[in-house]
Amino acid sequence: MPSSPAKGWSMGHNAGREEVVVSMDRDNPLREGLEPERRPAPFALVIFGATGDLCRRKLLPALYNLAVDRWLPEPYAVVGVGRSPMNDTAFRETAQRAIDQHSRRPRQAPVWEQFASHLYYLQGEIHDPTTYRKLAETLQGLAAAMPGRLYYLATPPTLYPEVARQLGTAGLGQPRGSGWTRIIVEKPFGHDLESARQLNLALHQVFAEEQLYRIDHYLGKETVQNLLVFRFANGIFEPIWNQQYIDHVQITVAESIGIEGRANYYESAGALRDMVQNHMFQLLSLLAMEPPVTLEADAIRDEKVKVLKAVRPLAGHAVNEETVRGQYQAGVVDGQPVPGYREETGVNPASDTETYVAMRLFIDNWRWAGVPFYLRTGKRMSKRATEIAIQFKRPPHRLFSAPSAAELDPNLLAIKIQPDEGIILRFGAKEPGARIRVRTVNMEFLYDTSFADPAPEAYERLLLDAMLGDSTLFTRHDEVEQAWAIITAILEGWKRHRTPLHGYEAGSWGPSAADDLIARDLARWRHL
Ligand code: BG6
Repeated sequence: MPSSPAKGWSMGHNAGREEVVVSMDRDNPLREGLEPERRPAPFALVIFGATGDLCRRKLLPALYNLAVDRWLPEPYAVVGVGRSPMNDTAFRETAQRAIDQHSRRPRQAPVWEQFASHLYYLQGEIHDPTTYRKLAETLQGLAAAMPGRLYYLATPPTLYPEVARQLGTAGLGQPRGSGWTRIIVEKPFGHDLESARQLNLALHQVFAEEQLYRIDHYLGKETVQNLLVFRFANGIFEPIWNQQYIDHVQITVAESIGIEGRANYYESAGALRDMVQNHMFQLLSLLAMEPPVTLEADAIRDEKVKVLKAVRPLAGHAVNEETVRGQYQAGVVDGQPVPGYREETGVNPASDTETYVAMRLFIDNWRWAGVPFYLRTGKRMSKRATEIAIQFKRPPHRLFSAPSAAELDPNLLAIKIQPDEGIILRFGAKEPGARIRVRTVNMEFLYDTSFADPAPEAYERLLLDAMLGDSTLFTRHDEVEQAWAIITAILEGWKRHRTPLHGYEAGSWGPSAADDLIARDLARWRHL
């Protein structure tokens, strides 16, 4: 995204769609293809839960950065709805502090002043119909200039059905005239299959599926989107992307942070719900899906759902063989001593909540038959690292004899999602010298060094897409439910079969039981 207006902008309306098309040329060829192509039509964004953490840490900074990059149309309005008594000026001050603390780029006076003048605040209780009447009046006043309406549910999730219902009752659910109305729903989307179904039902009472934008912020990450480009814009990987050539896949989402004061939520969530049901299953589906017919939102989401449908259910005793639960104990992370999970403020001292989970999954379809997918995620691990590693089979015939090639690692493709975004290909090369000795080497592509522009934050991309009406990077109702079906079976299995909870030291790579899980297949976790 550009940080300043470019030379040679030209603008025109794209027939039948609400965005403005922007084309441009720039001198630097490295920037080619990184420039804005579209801009949303005027809209009012209403954030429910405007005084909350999400709004402060993510939404306001993301909106500000969209303003810096000139993605926002003129006019637009951001209406924060919250319980705390506040006027527009106080809300703008809150936004200023939020941006100073959390924006990826420093606040610049002219852009900030422009941006701040678009922020408004409406005080009101979520359960009180007066709130929605006041909101309807405000939106009515804006409707002529800003026909688009985007609601953002950033309240505690238990309030989602109530906000939707009240919006419906106040006549705010459906678009008026030439405008559009959309609603973004934050995670968690339910806590099991039944609650996700109920939430879908409640939202569908007021909004059509096309109006619903369920957020999974991993889909807003550049490197996650690059999975699609890597697989389907290149000809050389897809022919070997199957059980014939791939030995196994490892997906790791390791975090060094703990629960960061979120005991209330985390105690009833745990790593399986918090990370696997959403973020890790998104990585799994993008990695394993068949090529979509087009890049249309539903074409991609159809293929993702098929992957989840093909995941072999872990029912009955299989949960104890195929999954490992862990909980961190006191240890040292980044040189700092940290308490164990049970010692964290607000956590039950006898808590059974898992902060780590590892599992082996199979995707029972033509492409992936027999290929194990190992997933692991945990808090308070040695370091932050999200990576997908595809390990290929060894060559069919070992031409280079032992000892030179016996210890050679099999080929591996590592897709690094964060930090140090990039792609690494591991292969064997001849050591220089008169004798044939083969050594494992890496060929590396790093985002930072290849592209001049820093990647936008996930929330920037996702907010912009919702403004534009592009739901490709949002989860569909059946996708969410299918993911919950897999997770709910595991949760029930854990309960029924009393799956043990293994302690692991904070700052380590998780419980040793997870090493045993993968060692059964003569493999080992990547050392990251
Ligand atoms: C959130 C989880 O969805 O994702 C958090 O609730 C987790 O527990 C976070 O820390 C990880 O996101 P990221 O972008 O830092 O990998």
